[in-house]
Amino acid sequence: MKKILVLNGPNLNLLGEREPGIYGSSSLDSICAHLTETAEAMGIHVVFAQSNHEGEIIDILHASRTECDGIILNAGAYTHYSYAIRDAIAAIRIPVVEVHLSNIHAREDFRHTSVIAPVCIGQICGFGADSYDLALTALAFRFNQSVPKLEKPIS
Ligand code: DQA
Repeated sequence: MKKILVLNGPNLNLLGEREPGIYGSSSLDSICAHLTETAEAMGIHVVFAQSNHEGEIIDILHASRTECDGIILNAGAYTHYSYAIRDAIAAIRIPVVEVHLSNIHAREDFRHTSVIAPVCIGQICGFGADSYDLALTALAFRFNQSVPKLEKPIS
């Protein structure tokens, strides 16, 4: 069974209470619970991690290179300036899908740049919590895994 890590970066532990007008009202726990159900239906095993610290995110990425088949990464604000996280993604050989709840291209100028995008296999943004389900679907396609009809989306 394929194993996917869903890795969330800074401030995403506060989902649900943090700027709900932008990020929605679902907590990170409820998003993870929903993803677990979606993944189960796809025959994929998902594991989760969250860190507010750049170095810890890099350590988790390194550890995943031998433990996981793919990663869904919401690097939060690090997306826009962390060359260290970009280099960590480039260093590991498993596919990484960049995810954002909000449409970063429709927001402040500094969010239009993603320094990690060139080393990810693709970017999904703007679909709220559903961005994570869509990223999982993208990885399932990559693994030639059949994708069942998805249940009602979380957001
Ligand atoms: C975010 C977008 C980033 O610009 C922001 O810093 C976040 C969340 C998103 O999921 O929309 O923390 O990654």
